[in-house]
Amino acid sequence: MHPIINQMNLNCKLSMKEYLEQLNEPQREGVINTEGPCMLIAGAGSGKTRVLTFRIAHLIKSHDVDPFNIMALTFTNKAAKEMRNRIEGVVGADARNLWMGTFHSVFARMLRAEAHLLGYPNNFTIYDTDDSKSLIKSIVKEMNLDETQYKANVVYNRISSAKNRLIGWQDYNQNPVLLGEDAEVMRPRIGEIFKNYSLRCFRSGAMDFDDLCSIPINYLRNTLIHLININIASVISWSMSFRTPIFASILLFESWLQ
Ligand SMILES: Nc1ncnc2c1ncn2[C@@H]1O[C@H](COP(=O)(O)OP(=O)(O)OP(=O)(O)O)[C@@H](O)[C@H]1O
Ligand SMILES: [Mg+2]
Repeated sequence: MHPIINQMNLNCKLSMKEYLEQLNEPQREGVINTEGPCMLIAGAGSGKTRVLTFRIAHLIKSHDVDPFNIMALTFTNKAAKEMRNRIEGVVGADARNLWMGTFHSVFARMLRAEAHLLGYPNNFTIYDTDDSKSLIKSIVKEMNLDETQYKANVVYNRISSAKNRLIGWQDYNQNPVLLGEDAEVMRPRIGEIFKNYSLRCFRSGAMDFDDLCSIPINYLRNTLIHLININIASVISWSMSFRTPIFASILLFESWLQ
């Protein structure tokens, strides 16, 4: 382990100047410019994770940001584990209060606390891809559709791709372009399957992998837009009930999804 990191781990008393000295100039810029969005583009092994971990440390140490108000998201569990270890190495035990993990795990954690606001039980079930495909298969059967025309895999991918673009079953069924595409490939009833699938999941208190991201984002967006028009106080009390850096997560997700 880097000796400086070791020392930070022991007493977390390095001054801002001392830890900024551990960065080269472009890295330092990524760490100290904390206002507004910041995108880092750099090659493999060039110090990206170092910038992210020091940026978080900088927010906590020099800007007094409560770690509970910082969300750090990664794509893979391996990256999340590495980030957590490294952030702990820099800021010590405070790092345990960060919202740190993969997109799916952090959102699942939020939902475990707040799913009741969306009409799901807080102990909702998470369907893996196989669970989803077998539910689609039985819905196709119940609708008396041709299973070769509506292969579970194909239908699942179509639904998944819609959800990843934050298109729910209601919007899907009102979207002439999407419905037209389905009709063109001789699968005009995918919209109906999507509806039945979503309602079945909801009634069973279950979310699939795509729901873990799309449901909270859609809800946050819709609720905030609605509340902002009506009552700012509600937004504040609602967002406090969520107790997460919601605005940041919405912005992050929107830029990520685009
Ligand atoms: N300015 C620096 N001074 C000293 N060591 C550095 C500096 N920047 C990065 N390193 C070291 O270089 C190695 C790679 O850094 P890091 O893991 O942050 O890069 P990365 O871009 O995230 O890599 P990957 O592409 O593998 O994810 C680490 O051991 C890190 O401590
Ligand atoms: Mg890295």
